[in-house]
Amino acid sequence: MAYEVIIPAAGQGKRMGAGKNKLFLTLNGIPIFIHTLTIFEEDADCQGIWLVINPQDKLEMMELIKKNNIKKISALIDGGEERQYSIHNAVKMLENDSVILVHDAARPFINTNQIKELTEVATENGAAVLAVPIKDTIKKVDGNLVTETVERSSLWAIQTPQAFRISLLKEAYEKAQQDGFLGTDDASLVERLGKKVKIVSGNYDNIKLTTPEDLYFAEAIMKKWKSHGEKEQKKCFE
Ligand code: CTP
Ligand code: MG
Repeated sequence: MAYEVIIPAAGQGKRMGAGKNKLFLTLNGIPIFIHTLTIFEEDADCQGIWLVINPQDKLEMMELIKKNNIKKISALIDGGEERQYSIHNAVKMLENDSVILVHDAARPFINTNQIKELTEVATENGAAVLAVPIKDTIKKVDGNLVTETVERSSLWAIQTPQAFRISLLKEAYEKAQQDGFLGTDDASLVERLGKKVKIVSGNYDNIKLTTPEDLYFAEAIMKKWKSHGEKEQKKCFE
């Protein structure tokens, strides 16, 4: 099913501590954001990429996009101070009312089967997110004292992509702006409208590269993808 995707790449990567946008760090010699873009470039269902960037990174990113033969960029959009503001800048530019995906540039291990399933669910329901069940026990803590152990069976770790009917996402972003609400993901803005968001079961490989140790996990996932071979890649996720 055809879709377009907004890819926010305008962060600073402070928690990675690389002294520059973490998305320029390389895995197998290729920058993280290029890995992510390549997945969408090669997915025949993807009709266009709205890439949100920090103006400071523009020249370097444009060069890498050209060098790596990424051709589906519909527009390069200036980011904002927060992820939500970055994405809002892109949402404002959308004109039709099909389904749009939002996917963090910092998640280079998304697979196209799951993109497909997510897009289908969002087309039916209006809003859908990829998620995996939490593996750790989660406790609430006050200072250094545990105050509560949260029932794990209902806890899911939410990933991107998240997919929405464009009119719904526009409304959600406008309302959040009016109310001065800052969420940590896109779906939370839609939930505030009272709209139900559906979960699509994701994969634990789809990590967000956030802190330096995530790069070790990334190397291991790359190795697994490689050992299965590109054509066999899908099988890793079954
Ligand atoms: N992002 C963005 N605009 C921002 C902040 C984040 O487009 N103002 C993007 C990042 O580039 C990343 C995604 O949103 O692809 C998820 O954000 P996160 O993992 O938090 O990345 P950073 O904000 O760059 O990292 P940090 O929070 O550690 O500074
Ligand atoms: Mg951030």
